[in-house]
Amino acid sequence: MGQLLAGKVAIVTGGANGLGRATAERFVAEGSRVVIADRDGGRGGALAAQLGDAVRFLLTDVSQADQMQALIDFAVSEFGGLHVMFNNAGVSQAVHPHFVDDDLADFHKVMEVNLLGVMLGTQRAARHMKENGGGSIINAASIGGSQAGCGIIVYRASKAAVIHFTKCMAIDFAQYGIRVNCISPGNIQTEMSAFPGQGMTEEMIESIQAAMLPIRFAAQPLKRRGTPEDIASTALYLASDMSAQMTGQELVVDGGASAGDPVNRFIEVAQARARIMQDLSA
Ligand SMILES: NC(=O)c1ccc[n+]([C@@H]2O[C@H](COP(=O)([O-])OP(=O)(O)OC[C@H]3O[C@@H](n4cnc5c(N)ncnc54)[C@H](O)[C@@H]3O)[C@@H](O)[C@H]2O)c1
Repeated sequence: MGQLLAGKVAIVTGGANGLGRATAERFVAEGSRVVIADRDGGRGGALAAQLGDAVRFLLTDVSQADQMQALIDFAVSEFGGLHVMFNNAGVSQAVHPHFVDDDLADFHKVMEVNLLGVMLGTQRAARHMKENGGGSIINAASIGGSQAGCGIIVYRASKAAVIHFTKCMAIDFAQYGIRVNCISPGNIQTEMSAFPGQGMTEEMIESIQAAMLPIRFAAQPLKRRGTPEDIASTALYLASDMSAQMTGQELVVDGGASAGDPVNRFIEVAQARARIMQDLSA
């Protein structure tokens, strides 16, 4: 690994598991000091201890304004600054294939973590960065936020809002030297990607993920399972000066799933055309 983030201080919310965990590990490998913020104290604390002196953990609920302010203050007091804010923490919602069946019971929770949490993290980080030479803010969106479809509608709406919010903040904060971008993962194997419900065992989660794979691949041109490290690499790019000229962008990391229909309908269209021409000229 290189030293692309040497001298930088980063916060990774939701850094105890999944994509945030892989990103925290990558940032440290690239020379950054990192504060992992998560509501999962057990895994967050253990990861910080494992990664050593360059890492701290703070038990944080990203939907609480006072806790987000305390998080920024903690990073500055522990490491002397804040240059990168990765607002990664997020939650999915109960699975309802059709919206008529959705009781909207988790509306507030999803919006408070996925949208309010991102807004608070962006605002509180920017208040520090604007007085201290700028920085890079990265928000976790999803292809579900830009690709229309059925199911998990509240989640999709929360991620669509994150994409729009990211672009608005890029315009507002450019004057302070703060860049704001977002990452839209496709399907990446983490606990979230099995839509875990209450009482589900690890075995159930793994079986669901295995059953989902061929369905996912049917809609994904690259027949390769996305990994948390793919997202960590993208976050590294956005955090570092390699992306110095980029702001207000959504970087999509999805194996081509949102590029279009992977089934080449044109072949069928061309075959139908050829058949009709042959029939008519016979
Ligand atoms: N895995 C995917 O396929 C996928 C696809 C698209 C988008 N995303 C987005 O990427 C981000 C990370 O997802 P993941 O797959 O790593 O999920 P994950 O469930 O593995 O990890 C999410 C982490 O966020 C933490 N968290 C949840 N609510 C929190 C809160 N209120 N305060 C602090 N921490 C909280 C959890 O404790 C957990 O450590 C999310 O925003 C998610 O919506 C993931």
